[in-house]
Amino acid sequence: MKTILVTGGAGFIGSNFIRYVFEKSGFKGRIVNLDKLTYAGNQENLSDVAREYEGRYVFVKGDICDYALLGRLFKKHRFDAVAHFAAESHVDRSIFGPKDFVETNIHGTFALLEAARRAWPGRRDVRFHHVSTDEVYGSLGRTGKFKETTPYAPRSPYSASKASSDHLAMAYHHTYGLPVTISNCSNNYGPYHFPEKLIPLVVLNALEGKPLPVYGDGNQVRDWLYVEDHCAAIWLVMRRGRPGGTYNVGGGSEKRNIDVVKGVCAALEELLPSAENPALKGRGYADLITFVKDRPGHDRRYAIDFGKLRRELGWKPSVSFAEGLRRTVAWYLANPEWVRSVKTGEYRKWLQKNYRR
Ligand code: NAD
Ligand code: TYD
Repeated sequence: MKTILVTGGAGFIGSNFIRYVFEKSGFKGRIVNLDKLTYAGNQENLSDVAREYEGRYVFVKGDICDYALLGRLFKKHRFDAVAHFAAESHVDRSIFGPKDFVETNIHGTFALLEAARRAWPGRRDVRFHHVSTDEVYGSLGRTGKFKETTPYAPRSPYSASKASSDHLAMAYHHTYGLPVTISNCSNNYGPYHFPEKLIPLVVLNALEGKPLPVYGDGNQVRDWLYVEDHCAAIWLVMRRGRPGGTYNVGGGSEKRNIDVVKGVCAALEELLPSAENPALKGRGYADLITFVKDRPGHDRRYAIDFGKLRRELGWKPSVSFAEGLRRTVAWYLANPEWVRSVKTGEYRKWLQKNYRR
């Protein structure tokens, strides 16, 4: 691969992926990052990478739904791979306003597939990698894990839009021979995670002495994966995965939400004891835990069987949940400027207008 188009590279996982590819994979080529910079996109996620890899890193502000732009970019840069991250990604937001999810996740993926199909007629030496989620499989009971063969049963507008885009991507493989791979991954966490998602929200609220909202009874289970392990899996699948293959990626780390929140509080007590944080006014971080109204249609449990990826490509997670959580909390403590910048601007405006929980 010489030139990769990364979409959504200014978001959480996309920016970690670009950093991983430049710094840890041995890749010698160029990356073009196409991102619309929605409330969730932040160029500061990659300001150091942009400096360090000047000439090999190009940022383009634009929408994946823009056919003309995509056509121009494919022509100009002659991509030989696409890593497609761009999406509306937050389940709660999809409940309040699903339209953007249909636009970007379905129409945007379609536009990108069309651009790739037109630019790469008959080519086998290229790769279109579509980044997706385990949420397409729906909700599990107490036992069992999602396999690649589990039927799709999405239950939120977010997961329905991702399921739809997965089907389109695979249809382009079967119908047009486009060399597509898909990865379906469990919940990620780590640096640059936008603070509307559970872990960063809890870290930042706790630091300010604000309530830590736990939806419903807090017994919902998610399978957590440190973001860099996800990036390594995507890179592996892009290079060595079989065209037409889908690969589940997971952390082997099932946790109840309430235990995740308690884990964040424990990591904070270790790194910045509440007794030394004036915002806590004598309370411990865990005293801030507050049970709130549940999310409508809240999926009960996700768990991933990543045996196929382990057997075929030798991948497994390398960072334990305890270690990943400690690294993540330490990162947020060390980066108050980043936190300030993402919590102002478009995100704040959106929160004030829409978020009434
Ligand atoms: P994110 O919300 O942090 O980032 C999304 C990025 O896409 C942002 O930079 C945003 O500006 C950009 N974007 C949105 N709409 C766009 C458009 N129309 N055109 C161009 N750019 C646009 O999301 P994330 O958590 O980094 O997730 C990235 C991908 O990984 C998504 O496809 C998501 O479904 C998938 N995924 C996420 C998780 C997770 O735990 N976060 C798990 C599995 C899969
Ligand atoms: P989230 O980070 O939104 O990821 P997803 O919905 O894609 O799994 O939420 C993770 C879990 O945490 C999910 O079960 C919802 C729950 N949750 C809370 O209990 N409180 C919160 O404030 C948030 C944002 C999520």
